[in-house]
Amino acid sequence: MIGSVLKALQQGEYTKEVLAQALSVRGDDQRQLFELAQDRRREAFPDDKVEARSVIEISNVCLQACLYCNMAKGSGVKRYVMPCRAVTEMANYLYDRGRRVLLLQSGENRAKAWVDFVALCLAEIKAAHPDFQIILCMGNLSQEQYQQLKEAGADRYVIKFETSNRDLYHTWKPNDTFDERMECIHLLGRLGYKVGSGNMVGLPGQCMDDLVNDLLLVHSLDLAMMSCTVFIPGENSQYRDQPAGDLDLTLNCMALMRIMNPSRLMPTTSSLERLREHGQYLGLMAGANTVTVHDGTPQRFKELFPIYSTHRFTPGNEHLAHAVAEAGLTIADHPLM
Ligand code: 5AD
Repeated sequence: MIGSVLKALQQGEYTKEVLAQALSVRGDDQRQLFELAQDRRREAFPDDKVEARSVIEISNVCLQACLYCNMAKGSGVKRYVMPCRAVTEMANYLYDRGRRVLLLQSGENRAKAWVDFVALCLAEIKAAHPDFQIILCMGNLSQEQYQQLKEAGADRYVIKFETSNRDLYHTWKPNDTFDERMECIHLLGRLGYKVGSGNMVGLPGQCMDDLVNDLLLVHSLDLAMMSCTVFIPGENSQYRDQPAGDLDLTLNCMALMRIMNPSRLMPTTSSLERLREHGQYLGLMAGANTVTVHDGTPQRFKELFPIYSTHRFTPGNEHLAHAVAEAGLTIADHPLM
């Protein structure tokens, strides 16, 4: 069976049937799927390099109420905003240690004062280090706010569509609409950001057909980065009693993203490690080429950013260097795009 599926994938025949069959492979068939993903990655990134980015979780203030998230509005978590000085000093520290890509992550907050504050931090970081690539992950904002942040120096923006099924989207994210999220994705591209998007695997109500449509949506969008995370039921989220997503299904989804979109960046996320030891190594074997190093958020704030779990795994340099070496890859000392 895998032979005909691989052949179709190699020829770019991304039909719903082929994708559904590929999503369900396990064992030796899965290894062959991963090998095709690795071949595609090597064609686009011949040096076998992985991009490493540090993350600073600058604030957990969030006006969204997503059922899967531990930091949803009303979840009771104590809120914080890192002082600008702490953010810029951390950026200096990371830059001095050789990091060239920085992810600034926060909850979703459209208050003018908040966006002004981020723009200020960004401008300071960029003034000190013009070649520091900055990625923002701050959710839905207005066109003017995206523009303001771009002018302040942001290079890229990660904004996941989470699911291509609009009914599921509205169930999981009751404060938000699918159309608005898609509009933000397109807007960011038009403003000159390099955009990242993607889905989550294993949330309540999601079926195989939804994942196939997620893959087709990722393929149809003009993206520089893509990502697929496995659902972890956060202890303080509405979905705390739901089962976690399936790791193999997530890895297959990642492999297909890579096969269909060889030259994009794709992270191996810490949620994979949370479900199985060596999970992030497996993500690299499935075609990922980006790691997020959790060396930028001060410990006292890390505890207040329990995005998918209060016992979240926050990998540092050593763990990731090991996983990358195990996968036969090396960490680049420069941005890959
Ligand atoms: N499990 C897995 N991924 C999650 N995310 C948020 N909550 C969870 C969870 N419980 C992912 C979403 C979001 C990104 C910042 O983290 O895809 O876009």
